[in-house]
Amino acid sequence: MSNAAKPRILTGDTPTATGLHLGHYVGSLETRLRLQDEYDCYFLIANVHAFTTLAEKAGEIRANTLGIVKDWLAVGLDPERSAFVLQSEIPAIAELTFLFAMIIPFNKVMRNPTLKTEIESKGLGETYPFGFPMYAVGQCADILAFRPELVPVGEDQEAHIEMCRDVAMKFNQLYGGVGNRVPADDHARAGSAGENAVFPVPRARIGRVARLVGIDGQNKMSKSLNNAIFLYDEAKVVQKKINSIRTDRPTTTSPLPESNPLSQYIDVFLPAERASQIKADYAAGKTIMDGHVKAEVGAAINALLDPIRSRRAALEAPAAPGRAGGDALVVDVIRAGVKKANAVAEETLMLAKRAMGLDFGRRVVGWE
Ligand code: TRP
Repeated sequence: MSNAAKPRILTGDTPTATGLHLGHYVGSLETRLRLQDEYDCYFLIANVHAFTTLAEKAGEIRANTLGIVKDWLAVGLDPERSAFVLQSEIPAIAELTFLFAMIIPFNKVMRNPTLKTEIESKGLGETYPFGFPMYAVGQCADILAFRPELVPVGEDQEAHIEMCRDVAMKFNQLYGGVGNRVPADDHARAGSAGENAVFPVPRARIGRVARLVGIDGQNKMSKSLNNAIFLYDEAKVVQKKINSIRTDRPTTTSPLPESNPLSQYIDVFLPAERASQIKADYAAGKTIMDGHVKAEVGAAINALLDPIRSRRAALEAPAAPGRAGGDALVVDVIRAGVKKANAVAEETLMLAKRAMGLDFGRRVVGWE
């Protein structure tokens, strides 16, 4: 099937930090990899949003932006099939943000639980810029600019997707002739003659593992908590980190608590059958040396990471005569993705402006 005939998905990452870990992989990257064939995919690098907390570190944002593209390529996202979209190069997103800001109640934005959690966890206090709550409106525009069917995200983003759905429906009702009682899933078909509802109401798709526990067994895996296994850790380091997990079994026949990280890693990284066999053995009180299980889990993780590590290393190699490489390659990928993305986003903006009575002709956005 050609890409144009496939339903679209849009999702993205904010380049505020470098260093992907296994939590990112099983929480979202893996879903994206799986959906690349069935969907016309748009993966957004939300570099404008990065300025909400890093405005004084523009250089860092640029470096992280290039790093994210390399990370995506390393895990196997494929720019031939999926567009890598740099947010700052999509003018329709900025324009839709402004237009949507007119139809979202201010207090609703300020009550968004994801924003509240971020203000606390990042210690933003009262000092955050105007643009910080605004990014939640911007995220609605990121999504709706592509009129996607699905938005694959982690659990923490659900509130944003909910807001995005509200905005889509409100827009369709105000400007698309869709009745107030029409259910979300019918919006795309409703409206005057079915064509005035500009925005299909997208759904969130949560990844296979909503929360991967860190090797400390206390918290969600996170770079800042020092409990992460990174996608680019060397094989030896991966095994060492797995070995450091405390299983707290008094004897070799004691059960392994479900809450132990080793228990979750068995489920997540070993084939289903093997995982249930090990679990059953633990539960039956068989003699089990945790070291053996850790070796098996470590090997499975390393088998997953091997190709990712080698692709990432190849991407670090500089360009050579006749071969793109390093940052030049990344910039090429971005320019191609932006071109494809602007074709869709400009069309969306045109439809939205027409619905709002703001259409006065068709403009062209593109690279020189
Ligand atoms: N806010 C998301 C995050 O921090 C990144 C993001 C920006 C995003 N725009 C998006 C995710 C649109 C999904 C859809 O992870």
